[in-house]
Amino acid sequence: MGIMTIDGRKVEFTDERNVLTVIRKAGIDIPTLCYHSELSTFGACRLCTVEDDRGKTFASCSEEPRDGMVIYTNTAKLKRYRKMIIELLLAAHCRDCTTCIKSGDCNLQALAHRFGVTKVRFQNYKEMVPLDTSSPSIIRDPNKCILCGNCVRVCEELQGVGALGFAHRGSDAMVMPAFDRQIAATDCVNCGQCRVFCPTGAISIKSDEDAVWEALGDPNIRVVAQIAPAVRVAVGDAFGLQKGRSVMGKIVNVLHRMGFDEVYDTTFSADLTIMEETAEFIDRVKNGGKLPLLTSCCPAWVKFVGDQFPDYSENVSTCRSPQGMMSGVVKEYYRDPAHAEGKKTVMVSFMPCTAKKMEANRPNSFTKGEKDTDYVITTTELIKMIRMTGIDFASLESESSDIPFGLGSGGGVIFGVTGGVTEAVIRRLAPDHSKATIEEIAECGVRDEGFIKEFSIPYEGLEVKICVASGLANARKVMEQVQSGEKEYHLIEIMACRRGCIMGGGQPRLAGDRTKAARTAGIYNADKVSVIKKSDENPMVTALYEGLLKGREHELLHNEFFAGH
Ligand code: FES
Repeated sequence: MGIMTIDGRKVEFTDERNVLTVIRKAGIDIPTLCYHSELSTFGACRLCTVEDDRGKTFASCSEEPRDGMVIYTNTAKLKRYRKMIIELLLAAHCRDCTTCIKSGDCNLQALAHRFGVTKVRFQNYKEMVPLDTSSPSIIRDPNKCILCGNCVRVCEELQGVGALGFAHRGSDAMVMPAFDRQIAATDCVNCGQCRVFCPTGAISIKSDEDAVWEALGDPNIRVVAQIAPAVRVAVGDAFGLQKGRSVMGKIVNVLHRMGFDEVYDTTFSADLTIMEETAEFIDRVKNGGKLPLLTSCCPAWVKFVGDQFPDYSENVSTCRSPQGMMSGVVKEYYRDPAHAEGKKTVMVSFMPCTAKKMEANRPNSFTKGEKDTDYVITTTELIKMIRMTGIDFASLESESSDIPFGLGSGGGVIFGVTGGVTEAVIRRLAPDHSKATIEEIAECGVRDEGFIKEFSIPYEGLEVKICVASGLANARKVMEQVQSGEKEYHLIEIMACRRGCIMGGGQPRLAGDRTKAARTAGIYNADKVSVIKKSDENPMVTALYEGLLKGREHELLHNEFFAGH
């Protein structure tokens, strides 16, 4: 432990990584653009600069705390310095703030307000460069890039993909994919984490909002919504409600008011996923199929396997994702003219994930030449759409989702967090349905802290070895160990985003540790209050298997992911 003096007050520190963290611990919100606690330190923006008792200035993110240190965070010199940095950044930045998609959610814009930058004295000599719109999930606007390198580091360090890098030098420096390619021509998995970490409008979500409004305004179209588990715990705080609290009922209500004809819950199709994936797992174990079975719910992970570990393509479960299952089933239901009533059906899925936009465009997400999921709207887009209506979301009553695809189990809800799919599979494998068993399963290691979790469970005389990991850099580690023979598992669950879908690339951007913990707690709480805990106890699922799905499970619920790659 040590003690340093910050602005005249003594502050204790222990294992804080840098002076910046100690300053923040002392309750001072020091400005930063290039620092992120989960990434390596880059030290590029210099906004976090502080002054010591001899007048020497240094970037607090790049300095280790030392006992006896005396620093000042708000001197007149520092204020001038920060204002100048912001002015220079703005000078080299496209300043179409009023029409920028990130307006109101841009760190640079917020800092310009905070430091009273009302004019920019310098000319922008940078030539405008074209936007990269090649990805189905994100848009890159290099004219708004401030070279903080967050996207480069998150893609490399947390996702182990490395689709972006720095090119050229000095005032020509740019962030771009190697060899000047478009982002879609790289190994980008569409996870959207670059957009989450981007402090400006340089990387944003490719939006489908306008197309959805058009469909809602067309009386000849039946617009059907599905809402993924992680969306419900990430909307409320945008409207002043408690962080992480599930507002599923309010979302259903607002979507009905917007004009959606039917609103379904993706937890229903998560239950279908569990039924199918568990059956597939048992079949592979008993009949010598390819193991470890790799989960297939996360499209960014599925693409990662295809790009980085193609030898394991056949290990990927053939189950479609819950989004794919729901859309496939709903579209099939309305192919029956008796149900269609002369209307075209448009399927809109509300997802925490940018990669779901890519998934919806994959060749195997089409049936009979028609897209199963017409539009994917991320949580961030949903919040904007709600704001556009002017409806007082916070005071809305809860409404229940519609029948027949609106009822899901607790096992379906926990898909929103890392380990959730595995926990739901273990519930399905468990011979009894008692409360004690459900509670015991939660303690088996699946809910432990950490981004790579290993544990085993007994199943019919076999010790089933399981690995659950989130973040693709962690997935790479796991797969390399499997490849080398160092580790052996029967089942591997991977979610591309760390902590699972609650931290997906389509979720609201600024999420500190408290928000992350609240979203996880919100998902587990939604499970706790659900009457049905196991997918096989869901009566709607049973009815579907006896009806529409009878003899057609493989056709409607499975995929050959790599056949059309
Ligand atoms: Fe320290 Fe950018 S936050 S240099």
